[in-house]
Amino acid sequence: MQVVHTIAELRQILAQFDAPAFVPTMGNLHDGHLALIRHAKPLGDVTVASIFVNRLQFLPHEDFDSYPRTLQADCAKLEAAGCNVVFAPSEKELYPEPQTFKVHAPAALGDMLEGHFRPGFFTGVSTVVMKLFQIVFSQAKGPRHAVFGQKDYQQLMVIRQLVRQFAMPITVHGVATERAADGLALSSRNGYLSETERAEAVQLSLALKGLIAAVLGGEHNLAALEQHAAQTLAARGWQPDYLTVRRRDDLQPPQGADFQPGQLVALGAARLGATRLIDNLEF
Ligand code: PAF
Repeated sequence: MQVVHTIAELRQILAQFDAPAFVPTMGNLHDGHLALIRHAKPLGDVTVASIFVNRLQFLPHEDFDSYPRTLQADCAKLEAAGCNVVFAPSEKELYPEPQTFKVHAPAALGDMLEGHFRPGFFTGVSTVVMKLFQIVFSQAKGPRHAVFGQKDYQQLMVIRQLVRQFAMPITVHGVATERAADGLALSSRNGYLSETERAEAVQLSLALKGLIAAVLGGEHNLAALEQHAAQTLAARGWQPDYLTVRRRDDLQPPQGADFQPGQLVALGAARLGATRLIDNLEF
């Protein structure tokens, strides 16, 4: 496996291949990321992972500075998973001048849920992903594949729309969320949790399961259900941002005929102590 830090080095390597399969990450890798690599491997003739903690997608009070940078350990895991090339640029390499050209997600998708609670998040994600796609895929002659986790459900939708609306010849893949034995979605931020918080953390996915069970049981008063779910978590010491049921297609609240399995997804974000966790479950 080759590890490179500049765009020029990466392009030199990729010139020898036709069809990169690309997994963008921010590092501090866990089994969820490695599942993305395993998914990517058969898709192309070279598997590329990027590791870059993207300042543009963090709000000033968020964990950009403390986000764990674990390049050596990440590279060992990527190599064991069969990755061929790691692109780990410095900030100066990726943003040599202020990144004043930005890609804004459409408000109807990007300003709700995560975008509401983390304003600017999807602009930061869309901008870096657009840039990484330019860097990784510009010389490809064959199929181009990019692989993302479904844990960031709304992010995956934003990226699919980005690729569609800019007519980029890239196939975007979403890979199912990897979970710990108790059901907690794997996340780089789980490492921030204390032992007690870690034991509590599964309650977020249980709250989503509770929402799903209520909807499947015939309850369609979503406002009441969502409020109850949020209050239940709050009573356990969480600070919920949202717990909600949405249409899978566009993340809008479901109307009458939408209330069917196969159409809906439950999504949640809540803070446990200092750690903000997100999760989702399709149903
Ligand atoms: O999901 C992530 O890790 C990041 O948002 C991404 C897609 C690598 C962009 O920085």
